[in-house]
Amino acid sequence: MIGCAYVPRGTRLPFIFITLVCTTILLWVWEKTPFLSTYGRVLQLSPDILAGLHVISVPSQQQMHVDNNRSTYVRNGTFDEHTGQTVVMEMQVDSAKAPRKANSEGIFPLRDRSSESSEVRIGAPMPVSSANASTLGSKADEENLINGENNQTCNYARGKWVEDDRRPFYSGSGCKKWLSEMWACRLTQRTDFAYEKFRWQPQDCEMEEFERSKFFNRMQSKTLAFIGDSLGRQQFQSLMCMITGGEEQPDVMNVGWEYGLVKARGAVRPDGWAYRFPGSNTTILFYWSACLCDLEPLNRSDPLTQYAMHLDRSPAFLRRFLDKFDVLVLNTGHHWNRGKLNANRWVMHVKGLPNTDSKIAAIKGAKSFTIRSIIKWVDSQLSDHPRLKAFYRSISPRHFFNGDWNTGGTCDNTNPLSKGKEVVQDGSGDWVPARAVEGTKVKLLDITALSQLRDEGHISRYGIRAAPGAQDCLHWCLPGIPDAWNEILFAQL
Ligand SMILES: *[C@@H]1O[C@H](CO)[C@@H](O)[C@H](O)[C@H]1NC(C)=O
Ligand SMILES: *[C@@H]1O[C@H](CO)[C@@H](O)[C@H](O)[C@H]1NC(C)=O
Ligand SMILES: *[C@@H]1O[C@H](CO)[C@@H](O)[C@H](O)[C@H]1NC(C)=O
Ligand SMILES: *[C@@H]1O[C@H](CO)[C@@H](O)[C@H](O)[C@H]1NC(C)=O
Ligand SMILES: *[C@@H]1O[C@H](CO)[C@@H](O)[C@H](O)[C@H]1NC(C)=O
Ligand SMILES: *[C@@H]1O[C@H](CO)[C@@H](O)[C@H](O)[C@H]1NC(C)=O
Repeated sequence: MIGCAYVPRGTRLPFIFITLVCTTILLWVWEKTPFLSTYGRVLQLSPDILAGLHVISVPSQQQMHVDNNRSTYVRNGTFDEHTGQTVVMEMQVDSAKAPRKANSEGIFPLRDRSSESSEVRIGAPMPVSSANASTLGSKADEENLINGENNQTCNYARGKWVEDDRRPFYSGSGCKKWLSEMWACRLTQRTDFAYEKFRWQPQDCEMEEFERSKFFNRMQSKTLAFIGDSLGRQQFQSLMCMITGGEEQPDVMNVGWEYGLVKARGAVRPDGWAYRFPGSNTTILFYWSACLCDLEPLNRSDPLTQYAMHLDRSPAFLRRFLDKFDVLVLNTGHHWNRGKLNANRWVMHVKGLPNTDSKIAAIKGAKSFTIRSIIKWVDSQLSDHPRLKAFYRSISPRHFFNGDWNTGGTCDNTNPLSKGKEVVQDGSGDWVPARAVEGTKVKLLDITALSQLRDEGHISRYGIRAAPGAQDCLHWCLPGIPDAWNEILFAQL
């Protein structure tokens, strides 16, 4: 169920009991979350983020599914947070990753975008030919641009999608070891895969082509950590598939235990995963922290305890393991709604005390405050961790057309880039983190506007848990759009 019973590891609470309680009543409560409203000069998130609340009770009948040994666990009334299509009673989990955090990010309300179409100006012609962008600069710039090493002026967020037969980097029928079945659209009834064959081309620079060997060279004896929500997990899975080419690679070691990422007793999945490539001694990990803040049970002996959600404190996991990370990619966004906070029994805290600031109490304020806090904190750590490269990944846009998640909202366009293929504006599509990183050494991995152009790349109607009519217009098919996020990340490593 949505957001229910996410409990940080180490609290040693009786998760099963929590889960059972959670299963009795499902609250489907959302508040609107950020959505891009206008493109053009400066793209900003819609201000009316916090509009409606929706409550739906879900029947208790439950079905159990065990699919070809990859799905192993179903509990009545609980939901995998990653399934996307969530108004269903069953869930599927990758083997050995059964759900303990019964969150769901699946479906979010969104205002009808059709009414905004007149504002969408993505398709405007680019003022400068990207092929010749380098002629704008000096000879030295040009070399940097050609080498993809321009670290000063390249705005990777501005550019266009171009068809490219060298995509995707891996087969969506493969990569079974790292790619969740629920996101492998090749394994669903979907038959259109045009969305797999696009490459993001920044306007002002040649982006270095992703190559596995180069990745491992650069990441020799290094650790890359994704910390965030299920969209962060998508990026993690995408990267694992990109750097393995989707091949099995039995020598890759599961080193989750080094980071405490093991399934706790009574838990149904660990809080993340960590893998090491022995050839280059490279470690890639994902840690689940939907709010990018620290969660602390208020009463450890109470299985139904509330959690202090310390908005101004980074997740304990991050503080504990920061020393080990060379590259950090943070994200949050889709769990900031009243429904999820309530379902998780998260209580906002600031400076160690329950929040009393009404500006922060509003979800939007809390989210912005937390994003600023985590960026500020990471930046403050960089002088002590000079080899660390820290990225904040901007929000991944959702695309519910002609309705909300629960009113038949869809994203079943199969014609890529039908509303435009270019991002021409300079400003970020996600202004809160964009402003927060200003003056810091934290980089914005700004994927919002470019992803906004790719409404056809979502799971759409093909969620394997889909309730009839419901679509997942939040998560992406893999291979797909998150691969491009990783290309942009790679170019900055
Ligand atoms: C199913 O998973 C179990 C445990 O992971 C494994 O031992 C078994 O070989 C798997 N069976 C098949 C058919 O893959
Ligand atoms: C789910 O609920 C049904 C009916 O309420 C029950 O028969 C079934 O045993 C339950 N399954 C689990 C896994 O709890
Ligand atoms: C790009 O620049 C080269 C030389 O700098 C020039 O010959 C060519 O015509 C330019 N192409 C376009 C499309 O402007
Ligand atoms: C940026 O690029 C310049 C020139 O290529 C290089 O000397 C410098 O070290 C780079 N800085 C960073 C932070 O990568
Ligand atoms: C692997 O990398 C870690 C740092 O991530 C380093 O401490 C360790 O010595 C490396 N091991 C080998 C065998 O290179
Ligand atoms: C903590 O929870 C336990 C078990 O529910 C309860 O007995 C105890 O009174 C609670 N403590 C506080 C301080 O609320």
